[in-house]
Amino acid sequence: MNMLRFEHVSKRYPNGTVAVDDLDFEVREGELVTLVGPSGCGKTTTMKLVNRLEEPTAGRILLDGEDISRVDPVKLRRRIGYVIQQVGLFPHRTVLDNTATVPVLLGRGRKAARQRAGELLELVGLDPAVYGGRYPDQLSGGQRQRVGVARALAADPPLLLMDEPFGAVDPVVRERLQNEFLRLQQEVRKTVLFVTHDIEEAVRLGDRIAVFGEGRIEQYDSPAAVLGAPATDYVASFVGSDRGLKRLSVTPVERGDLEQPPVVHLADSMATARERMRADGVRWAVVLDEDDVLHGWVSVGDTPGDAARGGTVAEHARRMEAWLRLGSSLKTAFSTMLQYDAGWIAVLDEEDRLLGVLTPSTLHEALRRSIDADTRSVERSDVELETVSGV
Ligand SMILES: Nc1ncnc2c1ncn2[C@@H]1O[C@H](COP(=O)(O)OP(=O)(O)OP(=O)(O)O)[C@@H](O)[C@H]1O
Ligand SMILES: [Mg+2]
Repeated sequence: MNMLRFEHVSKRYPNGTVAVDDLDFEVREGELVTLVGPSGCGKTTTMKLVNRLEEPTAGRILLDGEDISRVDPVKLRRRIGYVIQQVGLFPHRTVLDNTATVPVLLGRGRKAARQRAGELLELVGLDPAVYGGRYPDQLSGGQRQRVGVARALAADPPLLLMDEPFGAVDPVVRERLQNEFLRLQQEVRKTVLFVTHDIEEAVRLGDRIAVFGEGRIEQYDSPAAVLGAPATDYVASFVGSDRGLKRLSVTPVERGDLEQPPVVHLADSMATARERMRADGVRWAVVLDEDDVLHGWVSVGDTPGDAARGGTVAEHARRMEAWLRLGSSLKTAFSTMLQYDAGWIAVLDEEDRLLGVLTPSTLHEALRRSIDADTRSVERSDVELETVSGV
């Protein structure tokens, strides 16, 4: 079922400004949709239409199939958590009381509301014993924004509207808040409309992205599609000429991306190792220790005399401990390769078992796989990348 549906919604303010024009899109239950676009393109107006702080001048909005213009606004807002732009905490109330505001309004007992508020503060990473009694001006900007998020969650609403909730903090704190929010969202699975003017934030958080330009949605799609196949010139310039790089961060490493070099153990003889490499037509192998934990690699044939190497793998193996979890982003993969100056990275499953390796060429393939449309301009045969053998 679609949680939230905009049907040809427009909003013209009394002064004649058309803030949003014919919005027609839907948000699925449990989906996190980011609204991204430049200042003044109608993002906040869109949010206000959902909780009826503003009324559309055309079209209608359905929440769980119900036309919200027929729902009492006060009752409607109880189903919606709202983190407003600039947080908007009550300055004369403590952090705990700010967080408990809505549950108290809903008539939950004061004690129960404060207890729940404490849990939520904990959830957003603020120790209630430390921060609960403070006033908003005794918090950092990032801490205030967390309180805003906790407060919006307090009524346990199925729908969350978040208007630039992490707007006021530096990039490092912002990234931390984003990570925490993603973790939180895995837990609470709210339907979320999340406003930002930052494309990086939009692709990082969104299951889908609505790219706004001047009151209209220019593209509504997955992050990979928006980055890989911008629908209009406007979207292309908004996502930036480095969209290929940005796509790395939204494309996960998948099983099918991996190469399967031969695998040997430290205790194996070099003769065995050589046999395996020859069978696979390569000159290196991944080396595991007796517990099947990644040790490194071993090669033959690099230097004169190599081919005749005897003894065990342990005597010739070199350490190489760079690894990734399956599902990590290609960006993480790439940056790990750079950090270790490595030509391959082991990819492990949740139990630390080796699933295969990622090389620059398989990484490149994975990026192509992530969006076909973007590969149309370059024929596969035009790009020749050597499969890396050894490091
Ligand atoms: N109450 C109002 N009366 C008249 N015009 C308004 C009103 N509120 C907003 N606008 C105008 O509507 C347009 C959209 O405003 P809105 O606040 O939705 O933008 P926004 O995308 O949230 O921008 P920002 O990123 O700066 O927050 C702007 O041109 C704004 O000036
Ligand atoms: Mg706004």
